[in-house]
Amino acid sequence: METNQISLPVDELPKKWYNIAPDLPEPLPPPKEPESGPSRMEFLGRTMVHECLGQEASTDRWIPIPEEIRELYIQAGRPRPLNRARRLERQLGLKKVRLYYKREDLSPTGSHKVNTALAQAYFAAKEGKTALVTETGAGQWGSALSYAARLMGLDCVVFWVRAVYNWKIDRRTFMKLFGATVHASPSKETEIGRELLAKDSNHPGSLGIAVSEGLECASSREGSVYCLGSVLNHVLIHQSVIGLETIEQFKLVDDEPDLIVGCLGGGSNFGGIALPFAGEVLQGKRECEFLAAQSNAAPNLVKGEYRYDFGDVAEHTPLLKMFTLGHRTEMVPIRADGLRYHAAAPLVSALRNRNMVKAVAYPTDERVTFEAARIFLQSEGWLIAPESAYAVRASIDEALKAEKAGEEKIICMNISGHGFLDIEAYRDKLSIS
Ligand SMILES: Cc1ncc(COP(=O)(O)O)c(C=O)c1O
Repeated sequence: METNQISLPVDELPKKWYNIAPDLPEPLPPPKEPESGPSRMEFLGRTMVHECLGQEASTDRWIPIPEEIRELYIQAGRPRPLNRARRLERQLGLKKVRLYYKREDLSPTGSHKVNTALAQAYFAAKEGKTALVTETGAGQWGSALSYAARLMGLDCVVFWVRAVYNWKIDRRTFMKLFGATVHASPSKETEIGRELLAKDSNHPGSLGIAVSEGLECASSREGSVYCLGSVLNHVLIHQSVIGLETIEQFKLVDDEPDLIVGCLGGGSNFGGIALPFAGEVLQGKRECEFLAAQSNAAPNLVKGEYRYDFGDVAEHTPLLKMFTLGHRTEMVPIRADGLRYHAAAPLVSALRNRNMVKAVAYPTDERVTFEAARIFLQSEGWLIAPESAYAVRASIDEALKAEKAGEEKIICMNISGHGFLDIEAYRDKLSIS
């Protein structure tokens, strides 16, 4: 029998997270204070989880995963399978190219975001916090944090980009089922929200605005901390379980990927699968390429500049060295709105700057990405998140290119989420009545 699913036994769930920082050829440029205004570092120190801020600056290659978090990971279905996409290969007529996909869609709330949500909620509870506050774009991170907060007995407040809040009604209900409070962002809850609503009462919002609102809210609410769903080093460290598992799974089938593909908004699922492999490339242990799939709505790695910029619109964060389009740049809403962020994670940006990460951006009408999701559904049988469709599109494009050139190639894509709560977007983009 052909086996398409490569599973790891539960006792092989990683015991440590991987931090690529010490393996980078040059030290990661540190966060900086802007020239004027109050200290942003001091602000974050008051507003975020201390354990996470410690990890943010860590130069330890391996960070032990507390046993309680490993138990939570197992309850949430880790380790997750790696699948060989034989049906998709046949549908595309591939003879020389092999395709694999990592299953982050098989998560309680539908995406990779639970990997860091559980860690952040656990550390916050340990530090005696009573509530978690956050931003969300696609709603996947908001759902993941709502879930993790509830398991830890904490409250959760979510500022959700209005353009998505308005149409993902079922995901909104899902968050509320966990007991979360959910605001459309910009909201009347914060100063920056009121300021933006005064200019445009129908403001579509953005992740950068939602981050500003969440930080403002967390800093003024007793017992609250702010949890970020992407971009920062500690988030990518928690997400390294994806790549660490994938490395072991490839060993089980005696295969090795030549190309890792992930969609990229802020960089957490891409970094999660890519950085453990990239670390081995930097240590001279393997050869592998990396491709980030983006939207032209926010092509931070494709068209951005590598420079210091704020992580949010209201400039509450320190300056981070990243590929950025500018923190105040307006970006047109798309269905895969989790990809609409102005900058890419500093760790991914550092690799991009050394040309170790390639990037591609697809048109904002999203026709070709939703079409790729349909091909994936009709061959492999899984309905994926609109964001993950970018990874599938890029993998299909790369596979066809290699096949045409007669090149043998093994491509591994990360399926960052499922699309069960995105049916409205499928109906719209694929004109299904
Ligand atoms: C399913 C899914 N994939 C990808 C992303 C993009 O975020 P990141 O680049 O941090 O993985 C999101 C963001 O919301 C998402 O929900």
